[in-house]
Amino acid sequence: MRKEKIIIFDTTLRDGEQAPGATMNLEEKLLIAKHLEKMGVDVIEAGFPAASEGDFLAVAEIAKNIKNSAICALARAKKNDIEKAAAAIKLSPKPKIHTFIATSPIHMEFKLKMDKNQILSAITDSVGLARNFCLDVDWSPEDATRSEIDFLFKAIETAIKAGANTINIADTVGYMMPQEYYDLIAKIKNNVSNIDKAVISTHCHNDLGLAVANSLAAIKAGARQVECTINGIGERAGNAALEEIVMALKTRQDFYNIDSNIDTKMISRISKLVSNVTGFPIQYNKAIVGANAFAHESGIHQDGMLKNRNTYEIMTPAAIGLDKSLLVFGKHSGRAAFFDHLKNIGYELSEEMLEQTFKQFKDLADRKKDITDDDIIALVDDSLTNKKSHYQLISLNVNCSTNSKAAIEIKIQIDSQEVTANFISKDGPVDAIFNAIKKLIPHKASLELYQLHGVTEGTDALATATVRLKANNQIFSANASNTDILVASALAYINCLDKLNY
Ligand code: KIV
Ligand code: ZN
Repeated sequence: MRKEKIIIFDTTLRDGEQAPGATMNLEEKLLIAKHLEKMGVDVIEAGFPAASEGDFLAVAEIAKNIKNSAICALARAKKNDIEKAAAAIKLSPKPKIHTFIATSPIHMEFKLKMDKNQILSAITDSVGLARNFCLDVDWSPEDATRSEIDFLFKAIETAIKAGANTINIADTVGYMMPQEYYDLIAKIKNNVSNIDKAVISTHCHNDLGLAVANSLAAIKAGARQVECTINGIGERAGNAALEEIVMALKTRQDFYNIDSNIDTKMISRISKLVSNVTGFPIQYNKAIVGANAFAHESGIHQDGMLKNRNTYEIMTPAAIGLDKSLLVFGKHSGRAAFFDHLKNIGYELSEEMLEQTFKQFKDLADRKKDITDDDIIALVDDSLTNKKSHYQLISLNVNCSTNSKAAIEIKIQIDSQEVTANFISKDGPVDAIFNAIKKLIPHKASLELYQLHGVTEGTDALATATVRLKANNQIFSANASNTDILVASALAYINCLDKLNY
């Protein structure tokens, strides 16, 4: 039987970015968009242009640079939103507008204060306007899964009549059970008179931990587009995780008989990139991309694996790009081999970035015996996401012991000027470092998160520090990796202030 194709609609840069703390800047969004394109994502929802000037510019830049994936912009059912969305995506060879309005009684009565007739005419007007700008229009009934079913049918029919070619059944609050969502999709197929003119899409939130299960149930019932995000990031508990859906379809082709255009070998790489950019660590036991996803601990399992991998492994690590060439490089590795290896693990860097990363790699090789792909990825992501630095750490001296307060001296270059500060803290060296930096770069932001994690095992491992700051209701995150956790912490704080101030 011929395999059908699923349309992978990635909303990491829109719904994913709505996760508290996941704000990304334009360069980071573009970097992720380029990886999504390379991975074969069919549609990239790049943002919500009416939300802010920054969102508009990011969507426009992505639309200008991405050629193979469709670029989608989100818009409420409002003239200004739709015009802004259309303007932002106008340079994309494959532009798409995603417009939505809620159809559930609770949203209509309390949030929108609109009755059914008003909703239906807003659908006709908004979808019609979006169609005037581009042929590809995705329409979502927000909170579809808590809507009255007959009204939902009518709303979908109206949207298709007005020109929508994708109907995205949003489980906005993650309320559905898989069987229920399957039945809903099946009912839509059987009851909406013009549904054959549109693709049915899923958009599932993970409030009850069912986003992926619901998306897969919908696919089984006939949905042919799935909206999802890398690592499942998104509002509240997040969205359906792209990597889980894609690998479920691939591993269980016998059950779904559906293909995607995704190059699954890029999954691990892009998952780490999104985690590094947002500062959201990946749960150790997360399906597909967690550090333990392919680790076998118990003796019985290890024994089985040695005899035949299929005893305990339903997918290979290589399928998601984890080839496990653990030892890769050391201090004697040459430039050409290093550049070649970067290419193999999915990086195409400018000359300047290659040189910068090679220098960092050599510095690391002086301190650490074996360098793994994870180390290299942490270094490169660090350089890529902290490119335009106005602040440079020049030196850090730390003095601390069990019997005295921590005393530090830090020297920073601010643009071209070098400045120094000292601080003594009873709460340890990190507190002293952050306070000294604050003396040099005064600000009113609050520290929302400071965390450290080891990139690999061992006491000489690179550590990644993440700092999240909140100012004027906006959240900024930054990372830095170093074998010295105090240096990593200072750098992450400085990088975050750089983002906050520029
Ligand atoms: O969750 C939701 O309802 C959304 C809509 C914009 C589709 O993200
Ligand atoms: Zn959503």
